[in-house]
Amino acid sequence: MIKFSAPGKVYLFGEHAVVYGEPALACAIDERVFVTVEERSDNVIKVFSNDLFFKDVTVELINDETRLIPGERTLKPLEYVFESIKEIKSIEKDIPGFEMNIESQLPYGGGLGSSAAVTVASIKSLSELLGLELTKDEIAETAYRVEKKVQKRASPCDTFTSTMGGLTWVETGEELEKKGSLEIPVVIGFTGQPGPTGVLVEQVSRLKESFPEIIEPVITSIGKITKQGLQSVNKNDYDAVGRLMNVNHGLLDSLGVGTQKLNEIVYIAREAGASGAKITGAGGGGCILAIGNNSQKIKSSIKSNGYEAFETKITRTGVREE
Ligand code: PMV
Repeated sequence: MIKFSAPGKVYLFGEHAVVYGEPALACAIDERVFVTVEERSDNVIKVFSNDLFFKDVTVELINDETRLIPGERTLKPLEYVFESIKEIKSIEKDIPGFEMNIESQLPYGGGLGSSAAVTVASIKSLSELLGLELTKDEIAETAYRVEKKVQKRASPCDTFTSTMGGLTWVETGEELEKKGSLEIPVVIGFTGQPGPTGVLVEQVSRLKESFPEIIEPVITSIGKITKQGLQSVNKNDYDAVGRLMNVNHGLLDSLGVGTQKLNEIVYIAREAGASGAKITGAGGGGCILAIGNNSQKIKSSIKSNGYEAFETKITRTGVREE
């Protein structure tokens, strides 16, 4: 039996501005997707998951024909798994049947990179099952191809961060770069609704077209926050990181990607003592990220107001054997 896990991610700084050439800083979080694979003696491929991902569903894949048991539902997360299997088949044609079990600690659709994590962990486990010695770069590239196929539009940031772990410096036109890590507890608060990334990116673009002289400086400021933020991270100055997160949140809200729920959770976290709290990812739903010494209190305040919340930490470790 082979088991690998891959982490989810948050944006510490720079989302949306990164679309216009400013840098962003993403971090792997220690909430993971676990994939177990075991060879079968026939050529049947079975995929199971009993958690939020695709509850109680078994998928059989015989000669690329899929059969979902029970029912005829199409389940988006499964497309990432199927495309990963296809990518592996394009490297190694003769693959044996296997059983794959997927467990996820990440809420699906929360903008925390759950689809990248399931893709990275699936590719890594299958490549180990078949003895393919894929490097981390090859895993990240293959996983990015899968995300592009399934979503049409994807950023390589999620799959890179999930594969490599730690902090990822993202800049358009540049190679993604791994930049150390910061080992602090963080709290994630979830609105319970997915954020429609494409719609929000489009919305910001329209705002920028209508008021270029106002919106362009906002985007440039977010870029400056990200650069300053990386320096503060490198100095382990979490107080400065928190204050910069708060400014970044205000600017994201000014771009129109905040919602009542996101702002409510941000203010609950700050009231509970967070030194920084901001939207993470596209906004319009999805999650907020908070840092502070009293993460337990921040988490319970968010939960007692009826939102999902969990404590986690930023992790140096990307895809790993379990
Ligand atoms: O929705 P998420 O968490 O994948 O974040 C999207 C980040 C944006 O900067 C808004 C879009 C992008 O492609 O970089």
